[in-house]
Amino acid sequence: MKVTIDGITIDVPKGTTILQAARMIGPEVAPPTMCYYSSLKTSGGYCRTCIVKVTQGSAANPNPMPKPVASCRTEVMDGMVVENVTNNDVLEARKGVVEFLLINHPLDCPVCDQAGECHLQDLGYEHGLATTRYEFPRREFDKIDIGKYIKLHMTRCILCYRCVKVADQLTDKRVHGVIHRGDAAEISTYIENVIENDFSGNVIDVCPVGALTDKTFRFKTRVWFTKPVEASRECKKCTGRVRLWYKGDEILRVTGRKDQWGEVEDFICNECRFEKKKTSDWKIEGPTNVNRHSVISQNHYNNLNELKLQVLKQQKALGFIQIDKRP
Ligand code: SF4
Ligand code: FES
Repeated sequence: MKVTIDGITIDVPKGTTILQAARMIGPEVAPPTMCYYSSLKTSGGYCRTCIVKVTQGSAANPNPMPKPVASCRTEVMDGMVVENVTNNDVLEARKGVVEFLLINHPLDCPVCDQAGECHLQDLGYEHGLATTRYEFPRREFDKIDIGKYIKLHMTRCILCYRCVKVADQLTDKRVHGVIHRGDAAEISTYIENVIENDFSGNVIDVCPVGALTDKTFRFKTRVWFTKPVEASRECKKCTGRVRLWYKGDEILRVTGRKDQWGEVEDFICNECRFEKKKTSDWKIEGPTNVNRHSVISQNHYNNLNELKLQVLKQQKALGFIQIDKRP
């Protein structure tokens, strides 16, 4: 099945969504996502950041779709033509979505643990306005302890439902969810019941903003002062493949390993996440390959290597360095 996204045509299997097809092409054309999460069933369709314009529905029916569609929930049809970054209307509409997502947000990035790895922060920089047009008081909530490891700042929540899907699909018994609707909707644990099962910590990793934070890491440091390292251990509950976040010799936090879309590769158990904070608990595999554009790459030596490699490549391309062609 052929689909063209921002002028690039790709063959995809039946049942592929526009978002998945765009991700196959690459990050240049892939729409941002705040609620979709590939490993969580029925995720997506809540936040509208992934909207795109379908300028040709299919080869059989070349009519455009009248409104922007959520790419994470729309399947590709053969001959479909889609515009994302090449369509100004889409970019304008996405700006509107970001403005709505930020309407009640406290804009407390300077004191938020998610700063530097927050998808809403990135989205705000890429598509947001520098000012707000909202004149009403923002929603206010008390901070809530969800069990001994997790803190909820409802003011930062964008109601993406990812944490609810994690609780539904990964843990035995969900004790939290979204209550009320519309303006009054909020994540609640129904009288603050604790989430105590083995995989509940994953709600922290899937939360795209700083609404659910790790109480063992809160306020310890800014994330760009830490050094991420890939590590593993024999674990009976999960794969034991994690990312350790060091400051000096100390492991400040343990998370799942995230891919280029910011989604964890393996969900990890609470024992690995919260109770194994000694280097001797882990088999170290090596430094994480941090994206050069990420704020986390600041001052990291493997980033310097990457930079050197790029300079070398450029010099080779310009003919300053001869490539040795001997076998
Ligand atoms: S707490 Fe985080 S993961 Fe849960 S709905 Fe809110 S933003 Fe999404
Ligand atoms: S990512 Fe598609 S609607 Fe949220």
